Amino acid sequence: MRPYAYITRKLPEAVIEPLKQQFIVNMWDSEDIPVPKDVLLAEARKADALLTMLTDPVDESLLSAGERLKVVANMAVGYDNVDLKAASKYGIAVCNTPDVLTDSTADLTFALLMATARRMEEAAQFVKDDKWKSWSPYLLAGQDIHHKTIGIVGMGKIGEAVAKRAAGFDMNILYYNRSPKPEVEQRLGAVYTAFNELVAQADFIVCLTPLTSETKNLFTIEVFRKMKKTAIFINASRGPVVNEQDLYEALTLGEIAGAGLDVFEKEPIGREHPLLKLKNVIALPHIGSATIETRTAMMTLCVENIEAILMGSPPKTLVNK
Ligand code: DGY
Repeated sequence: MRPYAYITRKLPEAVIEPLKQQFIVNMWDSEDIPVPKDVLLAEARKADALLTMLTDPVDESLLSAGERLKVVANMAVGYDNVDLKAASKYGIAVCNTPDVLTDSTADLTFALLMATARRMEEAAQFVKDDKWKSWSPYLLAGQDIHHKTIGIVGMGKIGEAVAKRAAGFDMNILYYNRSPKPEVEQRLGAVYTAFNELVAQADFIVCLTPLTSETKNLFTIEVFRKMKKTAIFINASRGPVVNEQDLYEALTLGEIAGAGLDVFEKEPIGREHPLLKLKNVIALPHIGSATIETRTAMMTLCVENIEAILMGSPPKTLVNK
């Protein structure tokens, strides 16, 4: 019997063609709406491979549903939606999509930092609302980025790529990570700094840490209170690393000056979300890696990982080694 692969979102035919040539392949037929849990469960019962999105909860019930599942290829670098322990218990390989998204995600993170610091959303809206009556000295004045201090929390590959961009802006670079990275310090002039010190010293605090049991709820009101009143907080990792209610409080009480957010505790956020009412917040719909080139590369990497596992070869990017 030919192996069966199920893909949880509609992906371009050209990208999945290599799978189709060798395996039976089915795909959820929407690009925008996640596959319902019961459909995914029914598919997992018969699948040898699943190509999943970060919106799919790949929990133990799913991983243990069938006898044949050998690989979950998750189309993201983060894999907090996958129960890794359970996958390993059932001998299922979990693959992610690192490297191919590093630069695009760093670009977006830095763009969000710049847009928040320079109030670009407010300014663009100001023009569209026909409020621009004259040039004036402090009209929509934001904050400088160059020569300021950036504090990167989570110095993985994306963190490094953000640091590289910050170096180009003559920024002073602090970082906090599980362990120091002397090579990065040498190459980019970044300085390892204790978390509490980093949040107190940085003008821009950029959260790029993966979501784990240790980083969940890392940014609370106590942490925001330690920041400068002029600080700008950027989150491009995962929403639950931040206590959103505390962030709202910090922004409304003036504990910090602004926030640029690409991720949220619960996604998608509704238009009634309190953070969306704030002028000093720029909110994006989790588009860190969203360029045509990068998303295509991520899909392709998932396809290659599935092919490798089903053909008995080592996958390119295995998470549960
Ligand atoms: C990831 O890959 O984890 C990103 O959040 C997707 O854009």
